[in-house]
Amino acid sequence: MPVLQDLPELPCDFQALRGLTGQEEGALLQPLMASLREHGPDELIVTPLASRLVEAARSQRSSTFNDFLSTWRLSSEEGRALLTLAEALLRIPDKATAHHLINDQLTRGNWLGVPRQSGLMVHLAGLGMAAGKRFIKDEEALSGRWHQLLLKMGDGVLNRALQAALQFMANQFVQGEDMKSALAKRQNGLRYSFDRLGEAAQTGEDARLYTEAYREAIEALANQPADKPLLERDGISIKLSALHPRFEYAQWRRLEKELLPRLRLLSDIAAQAGVPITLDAEESERLEIGLAIFSEMSRMPALRHWGGLGLAVQAYQKRAPAVLDFLGRIAAEFRHPVPVRLVKGAYWDAEIKRAQQLGLAGYPVYTRKVHTDIAYLACAQRMLAHKGEFWPQFATHNAHTLAWLEACAQKQRSDFEVQKLVGMGDAVHEAFHKETGRPLRLYAPVGSFQTLLPYLVRRLLENGSSQSFVNQLADTEFSTADLICNPLSQVEEPPTPHPRLPSPLQIFGSRPNSPGFHPADAQKLDVLKMHLPKFGAVPATALVAGLNKTSTRGEKRFNPGNADDSPGTLSAASADDAILACEKAAAAFPAWSQRSVQERAGLLRALAEQLQKARNELLNLLVREGGKTLNDALAEWREAVDYCHFYAAEAERLMARPQALSAISGESNSLSLHGRGVFLCISP
Ligand code: FAD
Ligand code: 2OP
Repeated sequence: MPVLQDLPELPCDFQALRGLTGQEEGALLQPLMASLREHGPDELIVTPLASRLVEAARSQRSSTFNDFLSTWRLSSEEGRALLTLAEALLRIPDKATAHHLINDQLTRGNWLGVPRQSGLMVHLAGLGMAAGKRFIKDEEALSGRWHQLLLKMGDGVLNRALQAALQFMANQFVQGEDMKSALAKRQNGLRYSFDRLGEAAQTGEDARLYTEAYREAIEALANQPADKPLLERDGISIKLSALHPRFEYAQWRRLEKELLPRLRLLSDIAAQAGVPITLDAEESERLEIGLAIFSEMSRMPALRHWGGLGLAVQAYQKRAPAVLDFLGRIAAEFRHPVPVRLVKGAYWDAEIKRAQQLGLAGYPVYTRKVHTDIAYLACAQRMLAHKGEFWPQFATHNAHTLAWLEACAQKQRSDFEVQKLVGMGDAVHEAFHKETGRPLRLYAPVGSFQTLLPYLVRRLLENGSSQSFVNQLADTEFSTADLICNPLSQVEEPPTPHPRLPSPLQIFGSRPNSPGFHPADAQKLDVLKMHLPKFGAVPATALVAGLNKTSTRGEKRFNPGNADDSPGTLSAASADDAILACEKAAAAFPAWSQRSVQERAGLLRALAEQLQKARNELLNLLVREGGKTLNDALAEWREAVDYCHFYAAEAERLMARPQALSAISGESNSLSLHGRGVFLCISP
């Protein structure tokens, strides 16, 4: 990570996007709701169509896979065990570790609790899991033949059987292991966007291999009929995180030199071969650099008038409408519509967890599903209404959303394409196509199982989530009316965040989380940069009983990452000063230990407040004197603040009153905790 002074400037004006993630979601939704109420389509058209789509889909037999997920919900022990196995098993290289993982996961849960109505495969799978569990635990042997069989097979067979089961699950979502097999499975009448699996490259070599795979995919699509309009042809979807191992804001200068040329090369080949490209949307902290790259690419002479480069926009992000504004300006500048694939967003769980972990001021995404639905419809309405700005592609498996899009497009007299993922929403889309004749594109992942795993976990979360349409469609407890409810009639007025998702700063309930910011938050970094000159030369001295003690002249310190930079001077204390410090501390101890625990806890909290006030100065020192990356400096500063709050709360819990110990008849015993005296701490 560059030192703070070197943080890059992105080549676009993102002012309108900044600060939105910290805003109340209700306030952001109000104008979207007002616009939907005023200009949205007639529910009398939407509801019957949505209802027909649900009923048509439900009349088809549910897949084994859906049976699987509705039996072992992701909120159950068994569902979590399956998810863990799916995420890890196929990529564990050695048998012993794979065995330990299976052992650990299968011993959880009740695999025999399969409801009667579940399909045969699910019963068999449950039986297999239960048998595996007993076999592994080596307890209470299974009766008769099953046990004999399992003993004969050994756990190597069990391991292979489980791998096969997971591969069956993974197969639902991939089009093929390579482009040849993927192309062979193409169905007539459908459009495709092939996604070469592989994302979040960890090394330069990964990025090189993924880039090569994209190039091959483009070349494999080169021979499409010349008279087919560009945006109706099969194309590819690219994840920018696959093209570079450091696809992050702070590395912008490197990305300009290393990622942009790779993407330029791919786009040049695609433009010549007439293969449209869509840039996938990934984690929210990558939004600005993703847009900056899109904008740079749009300016390339070879692409200025091409019109085949599009991108995905995630409606669950609070910034989605501002992103459409940004893209609208690009469309105006280059005088052709930008192909936009509108999605709700696939990283919701991770976004929520990361915002909590980083102590952000707010979540970058909405916290209620219905809010995302509203934002999606409002963005779609905007795209359909501004035909010159967007070439609309709507990716969803939700019947109400599809019916609403159709009704809105009819009202606006606009065209659009719908998109679905391989392995999801088949029946709903089949019914939608029959009713409307709208063109359908399949997002078709291609690659090996090793590269599929992050994608597979997102799909399992999406299919298994109780909030998700595909999950509710498979669950007979939800009536058709439940499934096709207009989000505007479900939303609270005014809209409020989900009550079980307190703000990231309040997740600990009784004590505050330390406030942080994302190291890709350019607004926060700008503030930090502005303050740096103030802390140019900090003299550091020992502080003994409130007095600055020095025995040497200030010695210049240097930044370990930049020998030309000096963050200040250091004057060492003498041995006598150290002894004096110990004596003063020992003398202060009796009075200190008499203070109430509340008072001492209060002082720790006051220290936390001082640390917070001095944030910029401390980060400056951690980076420039300690040689830490900004991420590490932030983590260290936040840890210090957190510990003050944590110890204050723990001290109050443990020391406020004596704790009663278990009674022996005739005795009453209690434990009270007291200060131990002066400690010498040699910090690392
Ligand atoms: P629904 O069940 O109606 O919606 C589910 C979605 O609602 C969740 O995925 C989440 O976004 C949102 N949600 C769920 N719970 C909450 C909550 N508590 N608060 C707020 N929101 C919530 N995703 C990407 O991120 N980037 C891409 O580039 C991308 N490309 C795609 C391409 C295609 C062709 C398709 C079909 C999907 C793509 N996706 C992408 C995945 C997409 O985001 C999910 O499939 C989509 O969110 C599911 O929405 P739905 O309308 O089908 O289902
Ligand atoms: C994902 O990778 C489909 O881009 C979407 O989850």
